[in-house]
Amino acid sequence: MEVSMQNFVFNATTEMNFGRGQIEKLPKILGRYGRNVLMVYGMGSIKRNGIYDKVMSLLDDFNVYELDGVTPNPRIDKVREGVMICRNYHIDVVLAVGGGSTIDCSKAIAGAYYYDGDAWDIVMDNSRITDVLPIVAVLTAAATGSEMNKNAVISNPERHEKIGTSSLKFIPRAAICDPEYTYGVSKFQTAAGTADIMSHVFENYFKSEKGTYIQDRFGEGIIEACLKYCPRAMEDPCDYDARANLMWASSMALNGLIGCGKGSQSWSCHPIEHELSAFYDITHGAGLAIVTPKWMRHILNEKTARRFKKYTRNVFHVQDTGDDYEMAEIGIDKTEQFFKDIGLPSTLSELGIDDSKIQVMAHNAVIHGRLDNAYVPLDDMDVEKILRACL
Ligand code: NZQ
Ligand code: ZN
Repeated sequence: MEVSMQNFVFNATTEMNFGRGQIEKLPKILGRYGRNVLMVYGMGSIKRNGIYDKVMSLLDDFNVYELDGVTPNPRIDKVREGVMICRNYHIDVVLAVGGGSTIDCSKAIAGAYYYDGDAWDIVMDNSRITDVLPIVAVLTAAATGSEMNKNAVISNPERHEKIGTSSLKFIPRAAICDPEYTYGVSKFQTAAGTADIMSHVFENYFKSEKGTYIQDRFGEGIIEACLKYCPRAMEDPCDYDARANLMWASSMALNGLIGCGKGSQSWSCHPIEHELSAFYDITHGAGLAIVTPKWMRHILNEKTARRFKKYTRNVFHVQDTGDDYEMAEIGIDKTEQFFKDIGLPSTLSELGIDDSKIQVMAHNAVIHGRLDNAYVPLDDMDVEKILRACL
């Protein structure tokens, strides 16, 4: 049933320093919090592209402690390692230099620092996040919006769990977003990041509220930016405007803006993808590119068709044929084709995933993602069907 725009509170408190050369501000920004810095980063891209050297050269006056080796789908053991460093060296501020995985890991470290028990507890139950060390992010890949939002997604490989936690205190105090820092992001990661940005819009766009005109038009604009600029960035990795628009799209898609007034319905594709990553450690955006069109087809019915029609008309500028279903299918086909065109997989078998874990993944997605409360509520059987369609 459609309902009106819900009441909301919008918190977008990150100081966004966007554009070329913004890194020069880093010492001033970090200096607000203290001298002891934990610098968190990934598997080495920042050493290859010079960002590491640049950051270190700017932080001569600081005591910089390093935590490297954060993997995509960041793991809880890395969080534990980071907490130990923070406690041993009285860290004042956590500096994340990387993509969503590095920023998420940093958030969990900053929160677990104040928690007496095991770090995994604050992932499973965000009411245990009492305080959080200040977080500053230097973004190197456009995708998650973690640079401006309250979420952290952490994996526990032993338990085959990948769980999102959140706290307003996780919102980075400041972010440095230099599009040139993303010039070296591979074609695949550029495409996967774009699918992620688009999915963040879908998760908010396909909800029961009507009258959310502003939010929906913002969302449509973000999707259009992805359709336009992802192929350009893949064609020419150093196209500044393409990288800048993708970077800003990343932040805008998941800083709460387009979710304002959208109430409390659960997301749909993310919980399903998180199970795929939990069991098979796949790239988040690639999983979303596979799941999204199948989910769209699964939930297409008389009630949802009108919303899909709006999507098709406003995003792909297809002339209205007058048939809601037909319009909806055109939009879904175009979405699927776009993901293929940018080189993302469209089936699980392309990633070597078979049907052996489908039941358990479907069950866990329903529980972890509270899918009974989604735009179109999904139970185990629904998710199983969606996953089977993905094979
Ligand atoms: O580890 P390094 O060497 O840095 O390499 C990374 C990694 O291999 C590479 N990369 C990043 N910047 C680069 C670069 N390579 C070359 N040049 C650069 N400038 O890209 C690869 C992927 O990095 P990652 O941080 O994993 O990517 P992304 O930003 O897509 O983050 C994905 C993670 O965020 C979670 C996902 O589930 C996944 O765990 N999400 C976080 C959200 C949030 N915090 O709000 C919401 C999302 O829905 C999502 O769930
Ligand atoms: Zn996502």
